[in-house]
Amino acid sequence: MSCYKITGGRPLSGSLAVHGAKNSVLPMLAACLLVPGQCVLRNVPDLSDVSATIDILRLLGCRVDREGDAVLVDASVLNRSDVPEHLMREMRSSVIFLGALLARLGVAELSYPGGCELGPRPIDLHLTALRTLGAVILEEQGVLCCQNGGLQGREICLSIPSVGATENAMLAACGCPGLTTILGAAREPEIVDLQNFLRAMGAKVTGAGGSAISITGGAPLHPAEYRVMGDRIAAATYLCSAAVTEGEIEVDGIEPDTLTAVLACLEEAGCTLHTDPGRIVLACSAPLRGVRQVRTAPYPGFPTDAQAILMAALAGGEGATLFVENMFDSRYRHVDELRRMGADIQVAGRAAMVSGAGRLHGAAVRATDLRGGAALVVAGLGAEGTTQVSGLGHIRRGYERFPQNLRALGAEIREIPA
Ligand code: EPZ
Repeated sequence: MSCYKITGGRPLSGSLAVHGAKNSVLPMLAACLLVPGQCVLRNVPDLSDVSATIDILRLLGCRVDREGDAVLVDASVLNRSDVPEHLMREMRSSVIFLGALLARLGVAELSYPGGCELGPRPIDLHLTALRTLGAVILEEQGVLCCQNGGLQGREICLSIPSVGATENAMLAACGCPGLTTILGAAREPEIVDLQNFLRAMGAKVTGAGGSAISITGGAPLHPAEYRVMGDRIAAATYLCSAAVTEGEIEVDGIEPDTLTAVLACLEEAGCTLHTDPGRIVLACSAPLRGVRQVRTAPYPGFPTDAQAILMAALAGGEGATLFVENMFDSRYRHVDELRRMGADIQVAGRAAMVSGAGRLHGAAVRATDLRGGAALVVAGLGAEGTTQVSGLGHIRRGYERFPQNLRALGAEIREIPA
């Protein structure tokens, strides 16, 4: 076991190119199953969630190779259609394989993805969408068995703009003859990225980024090459790291309009921001001020994945901020750890009142989930003294070369045996 040892208070400065988007590349890797040939994805980050997804592709029969930041997936021959439980447990978002396997093979079997650190993670919307398209799905002792019961394009209405359910429906619809319309679709930039990859394969997909996505499926698809978009949550993490240390940073490889809600909060907290296509520049020369209210919501609202990270930055500033976490039931598990660093945070249900009590102090803290762990690193960078962050397995799921990138920006952070 190891941990990050951080000596806080060093202003970050410099530039970095943010890695490819985890939440884009995972559904794209599943989408490679749609094509009997080799697809190439570029700007693929080296993350444990990506490795876990590649393990599943290989188990299904794909040949997968890495060449630098490119991943080559040859799905010409698939020799099974089930994702075993131990791999499902490793990464619950593997439920995305349902739609792709159903489209390619007409059959799919995987164990129910359990809840996670964020609370229960239902998949009812995924199953309803696939059933609407004609899938027959039986649920037996925690295993989902899906058959092609006559796949046909139809109208799907999502009661919640679920990112994963939208993606599953898009992939399944590629295998359904006729027109599928997904109403109430998620509008996240990662959905647009997936649409662009599918279109590169020859799929007829339009409307992503809006709440109605149309797919005319059934035609064979061909191999494609595609460059994954920048990771907007990783970008937000580095921006908050510079802000909390009163430094300055240039983040490249990111489209500013994919995280406008986060940038607005950082500006309200006192940061100076400059944006160009593909680039965000942030400077901060005073303790962060409170931001009246941060309510997480589906895109283009404030992203739930950035909630803990911004909270960590503001907890050490001056002034109060009311957070309201509307997306997940258990996404304040980082609060107790921030309190160990002196944060003044009162939680009542979905609300968390953060009273910036001035700089935090270092402590030994433990990551409870991916973004909560990143938040503790941000808090440690701005705190006085030394912070040790354990539970690095959570952080490695979503951040490539995290301590190395921060060190290159001037942070004192290194991985040591715990
Ligand atoms: C994706 O998760 C992301 N993960 C999450 O990022 C992100 O927090 C989330 O979208 C919201 O933006 C990936 O893309 C791999 P949802 P997903 O379905 O698809 C409810 C990270 O840190 N819901 O949009 O699982 C659900 O309970 C991760 O990178 C149902 O009720 O999220 C939640 O309240 C964490 N039934 C809401 O919808 C369903 O069938 C939004 O969830 C599906 C979802």
